[in-house]
Amino acid sequence: MAKVALTGIKPSGTPHLGNYLGAIVPALALVNDYDAYYFIADEHALTTVHDAKEMRELSYEVAATWLALGLDPEKTVVYRQADIPEVFELAWILSTVTPKGLLNRAHAYKDAVAENEAAGRTPDDGISMGLFNYPVLMAADIIIVDADVVPVGSDNRQHVEMARDMAEVFNRTYGDTLRVPEVRIDDNVATIVGLDGRKMSKSYSNEIPIFADPKAQRKLVMRIVTDSRKPEEPKDPSTDNLFRIFEHFGSSADVEQVRNRYGTGGIGYGEVKELLASSLEERFAAPRERYLDLMAHRERIDEILADGAARARKVTRATLDRVRTAVGL
Ligand code: TRP
Repeated sequence: MAKVALTGIKPSGTPHLGNYLGAIVPALALVNDYDAYYFIADEHALTTVHDAKEMRELSYEVAATWLALGLDPEKTVVYRQADIPEVFELAWILSTVTPKGLLNRAHAYKDAVAENEAAGRTPDDGISMGLFNYPVLMAADIIIVDADVVPVGSDNRQHVEMARDMAEVFNRTYGDTLRVPEVRIDDNVATIVGLDGRKMSKSYSNEIPIFADPKAQRKLVMRIVTDSRKPEEPKDPSTDNLFRIFEHFGSSADVEQVRNRYGTGGIGYGEVKELLASSLEERFAAPRERYLDLMAHRERIDEILADGAARARKVTRATLDRVRTAVGL
């Protein structure tokens, strides 16, 4: 039997080029080798999205994006976390064997505390129990489908390690019941800089949405920050924000040519921006049509997700039954 790969996609923002290279492309590359479970982590997004309309909208956007880019619901189990009540029940049971000290060490929580302390506020100011318990819910997502591997970016490494810890404590307490998952961090996964040269991220407002309309996307490309060197001056491509985005989206011939012209001098940033804008337009034209079509027919997305949830629940129900038996419920 194929091994199980699971990953969660948090609908906390409109998907951008950083998500495309960092999560979508690598996750799609795994679906032929694993039984893949890819789900919309809407309950996790509730820790930051506190508006029902926005929540619904973002969930659809994220689902439509993955489907438009090639996620095949026949080959992959695609679902909404909130449609799987077993996850939530397992999260509670796991929390009863999880040392609070483990969660105290979570990076996201520690960073929030450090920020409060630096600002002279009380340590837990504005920190919800949802943020604190985030790793427990995530462990439940993983463990409930008996996942073997969890492909994530390095920022989620600790979360998956905590899920391992929780599965192991549970097994020590109640006997061998849960599969212990492994993190999978692909070093070749490309990270990409945003408009201002920092990592592309919604939290920096420097992102280029994958399916912005081509005109808006072109405008954003024109806003990529570059230095003031003139076209004739030689430039180092490896330190130039614009090139560091272009190299992921241009054809390999164009990228080589532009790289050489940076070295010798004789290419202006305006020309590279034009090239980047047209590469993006070309690459995403067909998926954009599929995306817009899905967003205009959300009942199709609902249907796909409902079908995925029904398939997922065959597995999640069985895991939860095993757990209930093990703990005596
Ligand atoms: N924490 C992940 C993120 O930052 C989302 C997520 C939720 C997840 N549950 C998961 C990832 C389970 C992998 C496995 O986007």
